[in-house]
Amino acid sequence: MQTVTTIDELRAVINGWRRTGERIAFVPTMGNLHRGHTTLIDTAKQHADRVVASIFVNPLQFGRGEDFGSYPRTPDADSAALAAHGTDLLFMPSEQEIYPYGRDCVTVVDVPGISETLCGESRPGHFRGVATVVTKLFNIVQPDVALFGQKDFQQVAVLQRVVRDLNFPIEVIGVPTVRDSDGLALSSRNGYLTAEERQRAPLLYQTLRYVADRVKSGDSDFASIEIEAAQRLADGGFGPDYVAIRSSVDLAPPEAHERDLVVLAAARLGKARLIDNLLIN
Ligand code: PAJ
Repeated sequence: MQTVTTIDELRAVINGWRRTGERIAFVPTMGNLHRGHTTLIDTAKQHADRVVASIFVNPLQFGRGEDFGSYPRTPDADSAALAAHGTDLLFMPSEQEIYPYGRDCVTVVDVPGISETLCGESRPGHFRGVATVVTKLFNIVQPDVALFGQKDFQQVAVLQRVVRDLNFPIEVIGVPTVRDSDGLALSSRNGYLTAEERQRAPLLYQTLRYVADRVKSGDSDFASIEIEAAQRLADGGFGPDYVAIRSSVDLAPPEAHERDLVVLAAARLGKARLIDNLLIN
């Protein structure tokens, strides 16, 4: 695996591959990699001849008072994991390389509607930061295909909108969530949990399963189910941000008899803010 830190170096390597007609997959990350991330790499290899990964903790997508400063940074272990999974090229830019004129006056990408609900409501500006950095990375890498985890369901939906609206010739693939054996979705932020909180954490996934089962059994009083589910989380020591049953197509509140549904939840547990979701159909 080659590792580069500048856009010029990255383009030199990728241009060589392009000349020989190789298909390129891209997996952007913020590092502190786990099996969720390496599954994206493994899936990427099935879709392309070359796999490019990036590690960049993007300051633009963290709000004031969020964990940008303390976000876990483990470049040596990450680099070893990416190499072991057959990544061809790792891009690890500095903040100066990505935001050379400062991050406050950069041109931004705003995706209306879908960015403003759910996590967009709890974390104002978050999806602007994500859409902006991923747009920049797409222009830098120019992949044929890009892979994202469905764990961040709303992120995938926002990025699919970016690709559609800005005419990127890139296929966006959502990869199913990788979980621990007790159901907890793997996340870099799980490291913030104490041993006692980690024991309680699977309640988030259990609650999503409970909601999905209620809906599948024909209960269509979504508002009551959402309130009950949030209460279950609160009773289990979580501080719920939301539990929401939405259309899995556009994340809008579902019409009566809508069939493609997803339940999404975000909740604080100790120092961690955990998110998860489950398709219902
Ligand atoms: P990060 O949180 O590092 O996640 C990188 C990718 O790994 C995302 O596509 C995320 O959805 C996926 N991922 C994380 N946990 C997963 C799991 N348990 N199962 C499957 N996939 C999982 O998401 C970001 O970084 C950033 O917002 C980024 C897209 C890199 C832009 O800065």
